[in-house]
This record gives sequence, structure tokens and C-alpha cells, in this order.
Amino acid sequence: MNHVPVAIIGAGPAGLTLAHLLHLQGIESIVFESRTRQAVEETVRAGILEQGTLNLMRETGVGERMEREADHDEAIDIAINGDNIRIPLTELTGHRVAIYPQHEYLKDFIAKRIEDGGELLFETTVDSVENYEGDGLAQLTYTDVTGTTHQLTADYVIAADGSNSPSRQLVTADGGIRARHEYPYAWFGVLVEAPKTQKELIYATHPEGFALISTRTDTVQRYYLQCDPNDTVDMWSDDRIWEQLHLRADSPGITVSEGRIFDKAVLRFRSAVTEPMQKGRLFLAGDAAHTVPPTGAKGLNLAVADVSVLAPGLVRALKRKDTDLLNNYSKLAIPRIWKAQHFSYWMSSMLHAVPGEDHFATQRRFAELRSVLESEAGQRYLAEQYVGRDLPRFEV
Ligand code: PHB
Repeated sequence: MNHVPVAIIGAGPAGLTLAHLLHLQGIESIVFESRTRQAVEETVRAGILEQGTLNLMRETGVGERMEREADHDEAIDIAINGDNIRIPLTELTGHRVAIYPQHEYLKDFIAKRIEDGGELLFETTVDSVENYEGDGLAQLTYTDVTGTTHQLTADYVIAADGSNSPSRQLVTADGGIRARHEYPYAWFGVLVEAPKTQKELIYATHPEGFALISTRTDTVQRYYLQCDPNDTVDMWSDDRIWEQLHLRADSPGITVSEGRIFDKAVLRFRSAVTEPMQKGRLFLAGDAAHTVPPTGAKGLNLAVADVSVLAPGLVRALKRKDTDLLNNYSKLAIPRIWKAQHFSYWMSSMLHAVPGEDHFATQRRFAELRSVLESEAGQRYLAEQYVGRDLPRFEV
């Protein structure tokens, strides 16, 4: 039977970043991805990179295109009912963020993996993971693109296969926790052929709800509107979208720029955390372990933070038989995950209208936001959370 030190299920931010970090330390892995390369590279996802994520890309030789093509932002705007307040992120924290969509991040890591001769198997499904508890090696059964089934042993298995990870229940069975929170709203996302509304993002709120003005390129813009989780695409005509975007996000001197809408989608909105994130030789990373709502722009960055603990843990375990760091993976990763949950929840609750909210609830929300933004300490707190903490660093 073939053997690999680390089997990674899922070619998302967690899986691909981990494979790259392991490769840099001379540890071999195989990444299994059930979708096609094209599907992975073209699925549009949110895209804010914290400074820590930027640094990791740069320091590990994957940052060149990102440096060139991403929008590097030193501020965000928060608009409260037409009153636009600028948060100077860099002035307040010394850090900046980059708008670089997740699929662009994935393209860079896929290209690097292939350039480095790494094994990255698309259209390959992992059918079972066995013997991940106790001594001996874990065993994987997988079916490749031709429909052929194979078996493989691995020292460690990492499930980084997204929020519906089938392996998660293996980890949570017998006493694990899956904490969840559902929100009474969702986002309606559109892609528009239009010039930028302005350089920086605008997080806007209004008695009717939230809107986000983001960007993809100089000619393609990404906008979101708070909607009902049960809304369908056909409930949102172009006229309704423009009316609501202007109502919620325009402010004196700023008018949301219009153009042809060429993509519409309803995006789910939920929080979940799995504790612990490991059992025996099986580890969860990224969305397989936790999901955050997109308001705080933390999803990809949390996946990168997970593997910043997991990679050195695996390297020490495999090279030196020192499993202390690996055994403490959950304990080290989880506090950051809960802080990101809190920030995403807090931002969401200030910026979104609870369906049917009354005048009291709306004005209290606005007052909470104003209290934060009118205080230098408040702005700094929000900015620190938004730009994120440095990534964990461990010697190997
Ligand atoms: C996006 O551009 O898709 C985006 C940006 C910031 C967010 C969420 C999504 O907080």
C-alpha cells in the first residue's frame, strides 16, 4: 500500500496553504479535492487578506501576483444611514489589508503546488478515513478521476474540506462540540461591470438593512445587500437592487456606481465552531472546523491561522517525534477562532437590521456604532480586530 506522511482532504485555503508550508520544510503531502481545478479556481468567495496572511504569502514565495494585482487598502468606511465615517486602519494599527478574492489566492497556491511537483489530485474523493485513533497509521480509501479506488496509509490526515466536511463527525463523535449560531438574515451578492465606487470598502447600514460596497477589479465591482435567508435570485430585479444599494450605501459625495449586473447569488450566513479540532491522527482545519459570517472578512485568514499552528506541529512530529505542539493544536487555535466569531457577530449585529426591528432597535444599533466610531479608542479597537492579529509563529 502506498504511504504519505500527510494526507490533506480539500484544496481550499487551509489545505493548499498547509501543503505549501509542509513542502517548504521537506514534508511530503497529497491533497485530495473532489471538484475540478476549474471549479476551485472560479468559485467566487470573499476576499480580504489580513496583514498576517499577506506576510505569509510574501515570505513563502507565493505573494508576487497578489502584491501586483491586489488592492491594498489603508482604510474602510462605515456609513450609518447616509453618514459616512472613515476608519483609517493603517494610521490606527500600522497594518493594512488587501482585497484579493479567495479564488485568486487559491490559483496562486495551486500554481505553486504544481510548480513544486506536489501531488494535488482533483476530481478525487476520499471515501473513508480509518484507523486514525491509537497506534499505527491512518488509512484512506479514495476514488480518483477515472473511477479507480485506491488505498493509502498516512501518518496524519487533515480534513480541510469545507463547512460540510464529512470527516468532522469522526472528530466530534464521543464528546466533541459543534457550537452553532444562525442569523435571521443572509447576503444577496452581485457582480457588476462598473467602475469603482471609491477605492475603499464601504460597510453601510440603514433602517432597511446592510449593504457592502466591495470591488474585484477596476471594471468589476462586488456588492452585497442584506436579504432574507429564504430569498431567491428571482426576487431581486436589477431595479430593486439599485434602489436598495443607493438607499443603503449612498452618502453625500458618494454614489454607488452602476453597470450591468452579471451574477446574482444568495449567500448563507452562519457561525459554527468545532471543539476540539482533532482526534488521534485526524485534524480539522479551516471551514471544516469553523464558519464565520462574512461581515468581519475573517474566513480565509482563520484557515491560514489554523495551518500556521498545524504545519509546525506536523513538522516537529514527523521530523523529531515531538508531538507536543500537535497535541495542543486545538488549544492553541481555538481562542483566536472565538475572537473572530465574536468580532464577526458583533459587526453583523451592529450593521444588520433584525427583520421587523422597530425604531428603538434601529436607533440603538446606530447609537452603538456611533459610540464606537466617535471614540478614538473605539475606532482603534474596531480597526485592530479588522486588520487581525499576527499569525502564530513556532520554530520547527
Ligand atoms: C468581498 O469583497 O467579497 C468581501 C469584502 C469584505 C467582506 C466580505 C466580503 O467583509
